[in-house]
Amino acid sequence: MRGILLAGGSGTRLRPLTSVCSKQLLPVYDKPLFYYPLSVLMLAGMREILIIGDDKNIDGFRELLGDGSRLGLDLRYAVQEEPRGIAEALIIGRDFAGDEDVCLILGDNICYGQGLPATLSRAAANVDGCTVFGYPVADPERYGVATVAEDGTLLGIEEKPSHPKSNIAVIGLYMYSNDALAYAEKITPSDRGELEITDVNRLLLAEGRGSLVQLGRGTAWLDAGTQDSLLEASQYVQVLQKRQGLQIACLEETAFNMGYIGKEQLAGLAQELSTGSAYDRYVRSLVPA
Ligand code: DAU
Repeated sequence: MRGILLAGGSGTRLRPLTSVCSKQLLPVYDKPLFYYPLSVLMLAGMREILIIGDDKNIDGFRELLGDGSRLGLDLRYAVQEEPRGIAEALIIGRDFAGDEDVCLILGDNICYGQGLPATLSRAAANVDGCTVFGYPVADPERYGVATVAEDGTLLGIEEKPSHPKSNIAVIGLYMYSNDALAYAEKITPSDRGELEITDVNRLLLAEGRGSLVQLGRGTAWLDAGTQDSLLEASQYVQVLQKRQGLQIACLEETAFNMGYIGKEQLAGLAQELSTGSAYDRYVRSLVPA
C-alpha cells in the first residue's frame, strides 16, 4: 500500500495565518501540522508517500523533507492546481499508486493512540473498495457521518448532514483498493463545487465494497482546520509530551522504531539536528549508546 498525504486547500478559515503559508505547514505545538498525519502513514507501514500541495507551498514541504531518504522513505510531491476537492487526490495520485492500494490522509488530521498502528496495518492488509474510519464526536454535522448497523456494518455515509443519523464522524483517513481509484473519475462536483471523497465512498458502498473500522475511546482524533481546533491540537500535544517526555509524531523516531532506518543512520540524523531546539535534543536523546 502507498500513502497519499493531501496538503492543499485554500485554508480560508485560518486567514490571515494561511495568507502566505499553507495550513499544513503551520505549527501544532512544536512541529508542522503535516508531520502528524505523515507519521500516521509511516506507523501504518507506508514508506512510499506522495505529498500533494498547492503550487505556492509545495516547495516548503520539499524543503523540509526532500526525497525522504534520510528517513528511509521514498517521498514524492505533486501539485493540486486548485482546491477542486479531496477526491482529486486519487486522480492526481493514480500514476504514483501504480498497481498498489492506497491510503489517503488529510494533512490537517491528527490521530494518536495506543493500538492505532496495529489497527491501521490490519485494515491495510484487507481492503476491497474502500475502508473508512469512524470516530464518535459531539458535533457530527461538521463531518462526513456514517450510518452503522448494530453489527457494525457500514450502511451509509452523508456529508455534513444537518440532521446526522449517528454521532460517528468519518475521519480524514481512507484506504482504497487499487481498482477503486478510478471511481474518483466517475463523480461530479457537489453543490459546494468540490469532488467529494464521500461521493467516491458512497459509490463503492452502493456496490457493497465499503467498510468501516471504528476507532475507540483510546484514540484521539483532532482536525486542525479552525483557529480553535489548531490551538486545541497544540495544547493536546503539549500536555502529553510534557507529561510523558515522549514526542508525538517525531519522524526520526518513527522511522527508527519502524526499522526504516538503523542505529547508524539515526546517529547521523542526530548530528545534523544540532540547533538545540527541544525537537533536536529529543532526536539526539534517542540514539542508543
Ligand atoms: O476532517 C474529516 C472531514 O474531512 C471528513 O469528515 C469529511 O467527510 C471530508 O469531506 C472532509 O471535510 P472538510 O470539509 O473538513 O474538508 P476540507 O474542505 O476542510 O478539507 C480537508 C483538508 O483537505 C484540508 O486540510 C485541505 C485539504 N484539501 C481540501 C480540498 C477541498 C486539499 O488539499 N484540496 C482540496 O481540494
